[in-house]
Amino acid sequence: MNAPAPFLGLLGAERSASTDATGCSRVAAAEPLLSLHGAQVRFGSTLALAGVDLTLRRGQRLVLIGSNGCGKTTLLRLLHGLLHADAGERRVHPLSGSGRAPRMAMLFQRPFLLQLSARRNLWLALWLARVPAAERAARVDDALERVGLRAQARQNACALSGGQQQRLALARALALRPDILFLDEPTASLDPGAGKEVEAAIDALGASGMTVVMSTHNLGLARRLATHVGYLEAGRLLLLAPTERFFNDAPPPAVQAFLRGESPWP
Ligand SMILES: Nc1ncnc2c1ncn2[C@@H]1O[C@H](COP(=O)(O)OP(=O)(O)OP(=O)(O)O)[C@@H](O)[C@H]1O
Ligand SMILES: [Mg+2]
Repeated sequence: MNAPAPFLGLLGAERSASTDATGCSRVAAAEPLLSLHGAQVRFGSTLALAGVDLTLRRGQRLVLIGSNGCGKTTLLRLLHGLLHADAGERRVHPLSGSGRAPRMAMLFQRPFLLQLSARRNLWLALWLARVPAAERAARVDDALERVGLRAQARQNACALSGGQQQRLALARALALRPDILFLDEPTASLDPGAGKEVEAAIDALGASGMTVVMSTHNLGLARRLATHVGYLEAGRLLLLAPTERFFNDAPPPAVQAFLRGESPWP
């Protein structure tokens, strides 16, 4: 089904800076980092994404929501470049100033940590990323500090609590100093306390101006952290809007049903 036109394309370059009172004028002026045009991803007979258009701009926190299997993880992987589009186009825009491509990092839902100290896990990630040896220690300390794990630096990563492990994986992504951070359900399978720890760490990143794209089933988290929310259904991005408008304007019936907790599946 199609969403009403006013909601679509809010992350697109075509949007006017003067037509929105919800902060979109600032967004429209922000530099584009990544864009998809008619992107499609197919796994065998499964159409995981179809006709996805979006432009991600610097400083946005885009939260993707939708039912199981609607394509959230696939969209994150496509944006990150871990997957190729079968049709359509993915464009990476060079950063203004340096002219280099934006750096990207991803936090997976169940991150893999090595049976080594928290510090060593981060150090190895930097080594793999060919970060010069002289920079590694400072980057590790900085990343651990940002997620509140400096005190656990010497502890075995696998002996940390679930929330601490997720924050450590977040630190590992941050140590790479990404311009865009992708988070796939970062608080899923965590208890409320651990979820809050991770949410606070993500909130601090957003406040620092980092561009974040995150999937979640937690609508409260989306409301609290997102500047923009995208709703996917059966591989289609049906609605993409600034957070206030997404939740407060009358959305299309499919989105209303999802927000009421009604599954789109028969
Ligand atoms: N590697 C793969 N091989 C085959 N099919 C896949 C693969 N990855 C995803 N799919 C299919 O693509 C569709 C979208 O999956 P995706 O994992 O993106 O959904 P999701 O929205 O992240 O779901 P969830 O909320 O359960 O994490 C599903 O039908 C899924 O079965
Ligand atoms: Mg997923």
